Amino acid sequence: MKIITVPDQKSGSQKAFALIKNGLQDGAKVLGLATGSTPVMLYQEMVQSDLDFSKNTSINLDEYVSLPADNPQSYHYFMNQHLFQYKKFQHSYIPNGVAADISAEIKRYDQIIKENPIDIQILGIGQNGHIGFNEPQTPFDCTTHRVQLTQSTIEANARFFDNQDEVPKEAISMGIASIMQSKHIILMAWGANKAEAIYQTVKGPVTTACPASILQQHPQVTLIVDEAAAAKLN
Ligand code: GLP
Repeated sequence: MKIITVPDQKSGSQKAFALIKNGLQDGAKVLGLATGSTPVMLYQEMVQSDLDFSKNTSINLDEYVSLPADNPQSYHYFMNQHLFQYKKFQHSYIPNGVAADISAEIKRYDQIIKENPIDIQILGIGQNGHIGFNEPQTPFDCTTHRVQLTQSTIEANARFFDNQDEVPKEAISMGIASIMQSKHIILMAWGANKAEAIYQTVKGPVTTACPASILQQHPQVTLIVDEAAAAKLN
């Protein structure tokens, strides 16, 4: 795992953007994208750049079950707001959280990932070490699946909702096995509330108790962290 420590989110986002730009120049076609506050400045860099994504495919990690694309808290809406309204991809895939048949949607999503192997996967991390919505104890070999969100994730994500009761209790998430098949993974983390998760990811045992710890076994991971998130590493 290559670790890049930066002074702040802005400079870390610029580093991540440079990696994506180089990757695209080297032939990367499929970007795995994440939501949450962590990648927001990276998307700003992408929007402000002259990069053309119209021949690229994007595949998002996850979506809440029950939120339609026009709900401002949905990850569809988030991606449109921060990236897709400005930069069009040839194809952009996000799980459909309001599919009538969630099992069929899960199969469809696995097929999409199979047909579009991810070249560069962007990840944030939850305070409990989750990636995508793969909560602690999720088996490392799982592909796309339906997730019951943990109380700590519901509480952490409540800041985007009017109150905690509005946070959906379930999501559809790309699985850890699919994330691990990405050629290059860029994990970003900002702020002291990620320091323990980053410590467990880098120095802890590889255990489903910290889903991101599996990244120790991936051949090409770049971890970009600010000093606060890196605080426990030294
Ligand atoms: C959510 C998303 C994750 C994200 C995490 C951290 O749970 N499913 O993909 O990494 O939140 O969010 P934030 O970047 O806002 O700290």
